Amino acid sequence: MLEAIYERRSIRTFKKTPLKKSDVKKIIELLKNTEAKHGPFNTAVKFFILEDSFTPQDQKTKVGTYGFVKNPQGFIGGKTVNSFEALIDFGYLFESIILALTNLNIGTVWLGGTFKRKQFDHLLSEGEFIPAISPIGYIEEKQTLREKLIRKKIKANQRKPFETLFFDQNTEEPISKSHPLAHLLELVQLAPSASNKQPWIVTLDHHAVHFFLNRTSNYASMLSYDIQALDLGIAIQHFETGLMASSIPYTRVHIKDTIVFKDYQYILSFRLERTS
Ligand SMILES: Cc1cc2nc3c(=O)[nH]c(=O)nc-3n(C[C@H](O)[C@H](O)[C@H](O)COP(=O)(O)O)c2cc1C
Repeated sequence: MLEAIYERRSIRTFKKTPLKKSDVKKIIELLKNTEAKHGPFNTAVKFFILEDSFTPQDQKTKVGTYGFVKNPQGFIGGKTVNSFEALIDFGYLFESIILALTNLNIGTVWLGGTFKRKQFDHLLSEGEFIPAISPIGYIEEKQTLREKLIRKKIKANQRKPFETLFFDQNTEEPISKSHPLAHLLELVQLAPSASNKQPWIVTLDHHAVHFFLNRTSNYASMLSYDIQALDLGIAIQHFETGLMASSIPYTRVHIKDTIVFKDYQYILSFRLERTS
């Protein structure tokens, strides 16, 4: 999964080739397995796939993406409740699917804003909400002009500098790139985020790692939900993937009232048994 973090980028232009049945089967299996897992706040997510060869005629939908996505061969998405913690869990679980699809050479892009949400209403039961979906298909290397422009506008290839994201909890000094955990923080820095806002702050305190949300003002209020909670779930998934790849034993803890860093919103912490 670690390679997938380095290789993943948002794909908005797909080949016209339909997905192979064997790949669709793998995706269905992946969604089912991820449904059996939990996010850090223990909320359940139900995943779905809309893929032509598997979708009954009466349920076929052409998903509106406002021209942001070209030639999608299907869509995946998930349903949960619209609460801050459930959205973190959604981000965490859906990103694990995105990374697994990256390993299968299937292109994806998180869509939290530019899709017609109403088209999915028929899939929802009382209290359910779809935070985000992703098109799926094989990657067309030649991006459309539109895709190039989108990437340029949001500076999709860039990330905030390391020293503006990661800090020592006590001294408030930036973490140096030679810190033993720096390679895991780099995985956070590579995470996708809505409009590439990168609203994560991580602090280190000996063997504890604390995640905070550096909220972009007036951003969530543009949408019907707190989209930056998804970003935090995604970042936590990347960090944890790194811990597992480095075989560092850890526990996740939520120490709500005691962890404060400037005025950032505290999310959760990791306690590591060692740092290397
Ligand atoms: C929660 C979330 C929501 C997103 N929503 C959209 C969207 O509605 N439309 C879109 O074109 N891209 C969307 N993106 C993709 C981001 O713009 C993209 O991840 C970011 O620019 C970084 O580029 P990269 O994914 O290629 O690294 C979203 C990403 C995240 C994480």
